[in-house]
Amino acid sequence: CGIVGLVGNRNATDILMQGLEKLEYRGYDSAGIFVTGENGKSKLVKSVGRIDDLRNKLGIDVAGTAGIGHTRWATHGKPTEENAHPHTSASKRFVLVHNGVIENFKTIKDEYLVDESFMGQTDTEIAVHLIAKFVEKDELSVLDAFKKALSIIEGSYAFALMDAKDPETIYVAKNKSPLLIGLGEGYNMVCSDAMAMIRETSEFMEIHDKELVIVTKDLVTVLDESGHKVERDSYTAELDLSDIGKGTYPFYMLKEIDEQPAVMRKLIATYAGENGLMKVDPEIVKAVQESDRLYIIAAGTSYNAGYGSKMMLEALTETPVELGVASEWGYGMPLLSKKPFFIFLSQSGETADSRQVLLKVNELGYPSLTVTNVPGSTLSREATYTMLIGAGPEIAVASTKAYTGQIATLAFLSKAVGESNGLQIAKDFDLVKELSLVAQSIEATLSEKEKIAKIVEKNLLTTRNAFYIGRKMDYFVAMEASLKLKEISYVQCEGFAAGELKHGTISLIEKGTPVLALISDPSVAAHTRGNVMEVVSRGASAIVIAQKGLEQESDDFVVSKVHPWLTAISMVVPTQIFAYETSVQRGLDVDKPRNLAKAVTVE
Ligand code: G6P
Repeated sequence: CGIVGLVGNRNATDILMQGLEKLEYRGYDSAGIFVTGENGKSKLVKSVGRIDDLRNKLGIDVAGTAGIGHTRWATHGKPTEENAHPHTSASKRFVLVHNGVIENFKTIKDEYLVDESFMGQTDTEIAVHLIAKFVEKDELSVLDAFKKALSIIEGSYAFALMDAKDPETIYVAKNKSPLLIGLGEGYNMVCSDAMAMIRETSEFMEIHDKELVIVTKDLVTVLDESGHKVERDSYTAELDLSDIGKGTYPFYMLKEIDEQPAVMRKLIATYAGENGLMKVDPEIVKAVQESDRLYIIAAGTSYNAGYGSKMMLEALTETPVELGVASEWGYGMPLLSKKPFFIFLSQSGETADSRQVLLKVNELGYPSLTVTNVPGSTLSREATYTMLIGAGPEIAVASTKAYTGQIATLAFLSKAVGESNGLQIAKDFDLVKELSLVAQSIEATLSEKEKIAKIVEKNLLTTRNAFYIGRKMDYFVAMEASLKLKEISYVQCEGFAAGELKHGTISLIEKGTPVLALISDPSVAAHTRGNVMEVVSRGASAIVIAQKGLEQESDDFVVSKVHPWLTAISMVVPTQIFAYETSVQRGLDVDKPRNLAKAVTVE
């Protein structure tokens, strides 16, 4: 979910709506806004669907000088108007937006609010009723009531609270869910991320977990858990507004797919120094050298990028690499090695599942690195070290350039460690040249979009299911390729180790089932071809994506050759286009697939 808030001499409605549009990637099943401040006038509008739907309902009667807004990714309660935020107390005096999950909401309801009735099913409504009760029945001040409610609430939250009787103040608190304060001249803001308010300011202030912040137009007061005032410096966010536009592209995803060669070249400029030396922080290199095992923790596409980097990391650091699904490791961390080093891969740097693991890692006192696309993000701030992908904002929910950028970033780390260890294969691995070839390979694939569109039309337009198969690195790419297809085209697709298909899954192959085979590794190419024959003889429609030199049939899709450690980058690009084309040809919303959100800030 995404939160915005503003207090000061500006047009609150306009600014909050623009902010919500920028936050739509965090959820878009419903949205709402509360604005107040002009001669006591206020208004609360909510809508199911996108921010555009909310805009259509808004009207123009109240511009407001203060307000809060929310875009939702449903957790408790269906995406209905009743469940959309802001939520209000029964008296309508208190208005609240929330991101996160209140774990003890049922206990709170039973203990404090038995006689109250609620409009919807959300945990948030419980919180605003609780605060109202402490003010209206127990006669606490709003600040004390909020504090008391926070001491009772368990779980994750970013809250922005308003009191209709005091439209000059927004009360803010956070625990585990991200929230920032944006600072302006004569106005201050609240937002889930800096991008939401970058049009208004580049000065931001962090809020730490369990802090409470009182925001007025000229003042921001930060209080720690025990109510003591905390001094906090602001920082300047270096975000480029022009990166956020879609230009002439029909969808962000296509723009982001097309940007990948530039991302590769930018990474070369960032991490390759003079005389072939890597510009990787020597502290990070040292931390990796001192560890006996690298643990990559991530979710979704970033998790797959971890697999795409594993072979290269192991070869060049001579250290075993283990992958952990973030949502599992937060709760069931396996037996660790003696000197672990944790690498968090996260495009957004905000994924709650990954952060849950990082908090444990920090408690245990182990060193960590976050590889992220968002400078200043939560995972970046809280890990020991950060390496930035620098791919520019990724807006489409389905991740593309962050995946390829993460692998390329880890290539620089791998090489730097290998070189520092005096490894000959590291010295021989000319990363600048190899990544330039990768950029060229991507460009060649990008020029074949029409060919892919035709294959899609023939094989993927109406199918319910499909398979990607591959061996070694291609198996890892198959995992990501199938995730991409599932996410945006709703085709049920599995990424399978080619040799494993015959041990069960082959029973799902019927006449016309599309099987996309990835073949980039000469040492297993013949075996994968054999697996293709097995499915074809059972009726499947095979589509082969082969690296140059390994193509056999005239209709094989050919990807130009790159270094074996980097094929996860070159081979994934056609599969991104397959997913994109399938989604477009099925008439779906490519950038905002149903049920998903770009950054999931709940566990
Ligand atoms: C969400 C997105 C995925 C993404 C995953 C991890 O589920 O829908 O596309 O891969 O989060 O996000 P992160 O920002 O941590 O890479």
